[in-house]
Amino acid sequence: MFGIPPYGLNLLRPHAVVNRYRALLSLRSPQASASPAHGVVEAYIEPTVQCDLDCVFCQSKTLRRHRRGKLHMTYDEFTHVLDAMPTLAAITLTGMGEPTLNSDLFRMIGLARSRGIAVRLVTNCNRHTPDITRNLLSAGLWWIGTSIDGALDATHERGRRGGNRPRAMENLQRLLDQRVGRRAPIVNVEMLAFDYNYHEIPDLAQELAAMGVDELDIRGRLTDWGKQQWKPATIDRRAGNDAPGFHLAVERARELTKASNLEILLSGEPYSAKRRCPKPWGFGVYVATTGDVVPCCTIADPGVVTMGNIFRQPWDTIWNSHAYRELRASLLDGAIPSYCRNCYGEEKSATQASEAVRWVSTP
Ligand SMILES: C[S@@+](CC[C@H](N)C(=O)[O-])C[C@H]1O[C@@H](n2cnc3c(N)ncnc32)[C@H](O)[C@@H]1O
Ligand code: SF4
Repeated sequence: MFGIPPYGLNLLRPHAVVNRYRALLSLRSPQASASPAHGVVEAYIEPTVQCDLDCVFCQSKTLRRHRRGKLHMTYDEFTHVLDAMPTLAAITLTGMGEPTLNSDLFRMIGLARSRGIAVRLVTNCNRHTPDITRNLLSAGLWWIGTSIDGALDATHERGRRGGNRPRAMENLQRLLDQRVGRRAPIVNVEMLAFDYNYHEIPDLAQELAAMGVDELDIRGRLTDWGKQQWKPATIDRRAGNDAPGFHLAVERARELTKASNLEILLSGEPYSAKRRCPKPWGFGVYVATTGDVVPCCTIADPGVVTMGNIFRQPWDTIWNSHAYRELRASLLDGAIPSYCRNCYGEEKSATQASEAVRWVSTP
């Protein structure tokens, strides 16, 4: 439901299981409240805003300028975040940077796992040494997302400035080879689908299927991070703007890989009054390196909207803050805040919107 992952046996905290169940019930209820009685279920935690790449569609570099030297989250700060949110069932280590650049990353994963929290991580796969691969595999992650944006080197590197596709693919293959015999992690490739790369979806899918990748998540709904100035480099260039061609490419990819174990997912179905964004109800709180709490990773910028600061305020104060209650109330009323417009598909034409509704979302 709502693309919320199940976590499986990776979630080992009974009280968090109960809380998650209550949160799901509350989300489904027509009487959902702006002041929910349950706690937060899932958080995106930003280990760093430092990055080895400078992708044309990513706000990482801009955010670094605003952080006044506060690039990484420390291990103690990370511990504080977990302490502050005892109902957490799962975390995703990602954000506006490359997580493997935080030297405490594997200690952080170890701490979360020792508390029974399911952990996911997203990486550009560009700088994995054999040691990083080994650590990623033994850390206890249940899911790793890797970012590959095309079947041709030039296409991937067009958007991922400073990236090297052959190296990323070699690192991905090493991860897959060394995973043999383990139950986890699930290895996912996320492809951002632009007008300039979606024709390569069938070739990329075939390549990933042959490598043994588990999931290809085609991300048709790009974010402008809640800011107009990012629109030209992001949503104006999304593959979904040519919906028929894009869907044909996805169908072709499914056809070509149906005999393999590759699952092709298509994220992008817009939210609506009937299908509310679950994040303000605890399924995807975003915590920046500064401790600022943002409603989701689709905005990921405290400069656009902040619910509070987890290093300076008790979590309950933030969770029940005026800002959080107001955001939930506006989503319940259908008065969508301007920074949510991208996810609610408000600016789409009627034809594009009906195409988008046909998109199959992650189960
Ligand atoms: C911001 S990155 C951080 C992790 C890592 N540096 C990476 O690139 O995989 C997390 C995910 O966001 C995706 N992303 C970057 N810019 C985006 C945009 N404008 N819209 C949607 N997703 C985006 C990336 O492709 C990546 O899969
Ligand atoms: S998308 Fe990832 S790799 Fe690219 S600049 Fe942003 S954080 Fe870095």
